[in-house]
Amino acid sequence: MAIDPRRFREVCGQYATGVAVVTARCGEGRPTGVTVNSFTSVSLDPPLIQFSLDRKASVFPVFLDVTHFAVNVLSSEQRPLSSRFALKSDAFEEVGYAAGSHGCPVLEGCIANIECEKFAVYDGGDHVIILGRVKEVHCAPANEPLLFFRGGYGTFT
Ligand SMILES: Cc1cc2nc3c(=O)[nH]c(=O)nc-3n(C[C@H](O)[C@H](O)[C@H](O)COP(=O)(O)O)c2cc1C
Repeated sequence: MAIDPRRFREVCGQYATGVAVVTARCGEGRPTGVTVNSFTSVSLDPPLIQFSLDRKASVFPVFLDVTHFAVNVLSSEQRPLSSRFALKSDAFEEVGYAAGSHGCPVLEGCIANIECEKFAVYDGGDHVIILGRVKEVHCAPANEPLLFFRGGYGTFT
């Protein structure tokens, strides 16, 4: 039975997630980033995480090329960042960030930052699945997460 894409999207939206901006430096050294909610942990030993990236995304060639990237898990106060990095990969104006240990932009004010070395890239249909081996972690457990559910943002009350 063929699954209607709109219905499939609606059903997947029933699964509440956090929101992250995955950042890297492109070939010329410019910082770049993309909003994702497909981030998930994969393995503890070795420590692996993954996210899926649309083959049509403007940042797709960059993430195929890079050796390292950072996953920046957004706090409830960073909703504007989610919207900005969903529209513009170079939306770093007025965004506080530092260079991580492998040069990737590590965004300030997140609830977690996970610096990774690219471990593997798998076919995922119209997306690719990018696995990263975790190299550095930063955590701010006092902050609240930004949530994504049924196509809209939310927070814990
Ligand atoms: C909350 C949210 C979650 C998203 N999750 C993903 C994702 O997991 N993978 C992905 O490829 N794009 C995801 N996107 C879309 C990208 O952020 C971006 O909009 C898309 O790649 C188009 O970018 P472009 O115009 O630069 O090509 C998400 C967008 C939003 C707002």
